[in-house]
Amino acid sequence: MRTNSANAAKIMDGRDLARRVLDAARTKVQRIRAATGHTPTLATVLVGDDPASAVYVRMKRKRCEDVGMMCLAVELPQQATTEQVVAEVHKLGADSGVHGILVQHPVPAPIDKRAAFEAIPVSKDVDGVTSGTLGRIILGMPGFIPCTPAGIMQLLRAHRVQLDGAFAVVIGRSPILGRPMASLLINAHATVALCHSRTHSLPSIVRMADVVIAACGQPRFVQGGWIKLGAVVIDAGYNAGNVGDVDFDAAIEPASLITPVPGGVGPMTIATLIDHTADAAAEQLGIALP
Ligand SMILES: NC(=O)c1ccc[n+]([C@@H]2O[C@H](COP(=O)([O-])OP(=O)(O)OC[C@H]3O[C@@H](n4cnc5c(N)ncnc54)[C@H](OP(=O)(O)O)[C@@H]3O)[C@@H](O)[C@H]2O)c1
Repeated sequence: MRTNSANAAKIMDGRDLARRVLDAARTKVQRIRAATGHTPTLATVLVGDDPASAVYVRMKRKRCEDVGMMCLAVELPQQATTEQVVAEVHKLGADSGVHGILVQHPVPAPIDKRAAFEAIPVSKDVDGVTSGTLGRIILGMPGFIPCTPAGIMQLLRAHRVQLDGAFAVVIGRSPILGRPMASLLINAHATVALCHSRTHSLPSIVRMADVVIAACGQPRFVQGGWIKLGAVVIDAGYNAGNVGDVDFDAAIEPASLITPVPGGVGPMTIATLIDHTADAAAEQLGIALP
């Protein structure tokens, strides 16, 4: 990533906003503890020995500690069955000392990821992975929005990006990212094209976009020449070598605002998870937060 001072004004700094979200979450945790004596607690479920997943879980645990929250780390072996994972998640769902549950994905291939997700009660679905939560988001009802799209919406709001009437292109249709992202943009009155690997003429669709959300898991896939002058470019991608889904150095020229990788969407994802857990604890403990 290269920037000069003119381009620096265009950067959407996710680290700075994430710090503010975490500060607010710390205050929520203090209020909940003072009012109830309970400490908001996130349970993480890590299945198998994928090193990247282990790193993500550690980062989440560290952020919990940073804001005074507890983290209950559950680890299951690579050979665990779907039934074992589901049983573990059910146990956490029934535990009144656990307020949020995160099943770290990807899980090992033989495990039915959807069954593991669906075992999470919607009230503790702080990562927004259940079908119940997705339904609520599509309908514009309250619920814990999946953390990456929720963090992106916060970044767009913080930079006062006009979504009402804007044409937004989302590249990627996964249940945790592209699909909820498209719903949130529609709920904010944007006109949305949800694109994927079978989409024809993707560059010409992106060229019309006022807002581009890249979430396809293809390193530097979105080219600078695809970006309309003045468009807002959000790169949700995170690929090996700290590379996003957008060719940042080329896209920054036409863009009016752009997220870097790292330091854009990523920090907001974790901060949102922590904030959701504090909110889930407040809800379950009957505390009204200001
Ligand atoms: N920053 C964070 O905190 C965070 C969190 C989650 C994910 N991510 C990153 O976000 C990216 C997407 O993650 P994900 O979990 O949504 O990935 P995913 O489940 O693999 O989905 C990728 C999506 O991209 C589409 N796609 C793949 N190749 C494409 C192409 N050539 N043209 C157009 N669309 C294409 C796929 O289309 P089909 O449906 O047709 O296959 C699919 O819908 C990854 O880089 C991931 O690392 C970052």
